Amino acid sequence: MKTAITELFNIKHPIIQGGMHYVGFAELAAAVANAGGLGIITGLTQRTPELLAKEIAKCHDMTDKPFGVNLTFLPAFTTPPYPEYIAAIKEGGIKAVETAGRSPEQYMPALKAAGIKVIHKCTSVRHSLKAEQIGCDAVSVDGFECGGHPGEDDIPNMILLPRAADELKIPFVASGGMADARSLVAALAMGAQGMNMGTRFMATKEAPIHDNVKKALVAASELDTRLIMRAIRNTERVLKNPAVDHLLEIEREKGAKLKIDDIHDQVAGVYPKVMIDGQMDAGAWSCGMVAGLIHDIPTVKELIDRIMTEAEQLIRSRLTGFLDGDAPSKKAA
Ligand SMILES: Cc1cc2nc3c(=O)[nH]c(=O)nc-3n(C[C@H](O)[C@H](O)[C@H](O)COP(=O)(O)O)c2cc1C
Repeated sequence: MKTAITELFNIKHPIIQGGMHYVGFAELAAAVANAGGLGIITGLTQRTPELLAKEIAKCHDMTDKPFGVNLTFLPAFTTPPYPEYIAAIKEGGIKAVETAGRSPEQYMPALKAAGIKVIHKCTSVRHSLKAEQIGCDAVSVDGFECGGHPGEDDIPNMILLPRAADELKIPFVASGGMADARSLVAALAMGAQGMNMGTRFMATKEAPIHDNVKKALVAASELDTRLIMRAIRNTERVLKNPAVDHLLEIEREKGAKLKIDDIHDQVAGVYPKVMIDGQMDAGAWSCGMVAGLIHDIPTVKELIDRIMTEAEQLIRSRLTGFLDGDAPSKKAA
């Protein structure tokens, strides 16, 4: 399958693995790259630019295919040294960067001078247009369903993707709630040139995270996520657990007066405890509604091959079957 996204990033399949804190290590990025998608190392999980340079080198040892790095601009207790991270990305020979959070405008000259293609992940049409205007090469349009930060507009992908298609000139991928061939074909039908998956890639053999996390994703349904930090306009979709219940109780008590310090224990330093140690109730960690569509833990290659094979069947058989009057069976693929 050839799309503007496979051409832009020089990849075989129009599937991107979004940056994920304490998940997007070299092992996962290389597995996705080797399976023909765009794997992405999460830049800020590496605590210093030097450590990021090492992670990039490690990933080059595991694949000869292109892979990218995520740079997230979110409110943080201390601002990371972004120019040094960008230098490590450039020196590591990386040609694709996924930016997210705030606008990457101030870093665009450095990224473009290094010949890097920038895909900005954002949750609204207006932010997508801004990304286009500042010279991003593509956008990852992240609907309200997504794991992580869905923004504050709450527009699901059935509306957001066609709206993006109506307005954007640069190519975009659908992000949030994407799990399988049905997601990919639907995304393409709505104007996207591919899809970005986060949560689905966590439940794969190569994802370098604790088995407890993978099992929790298989066990969870689409009803099991919660939105936290709405009152401080830093909304995050997370998997429900006792720590999240407690956090939501604090949020209800404090109302509009909520401060980040009130929920520090439930959100700070949680990721290594969950992803590495498998302490599932250590605090709040991002997870998409798509958990309801995750029923197995395949290898990354099995997952991507299955998506591409079934997408072809869906298009060639089910969809053209409707046109040919064959009345395909109720089953999707
Ligand atoms: C555990 C986890 C951690 C994430 N961390 C980041 C991050 O550090 N930076 C970022 O831009 N997006 C992050 N995301 C968002 C993903 O890159 C992706 O946009 C999102 O998961 C898409 O929605 P989905 O989970 O429904 O596929 C994270 C998502 C998850 C599930």
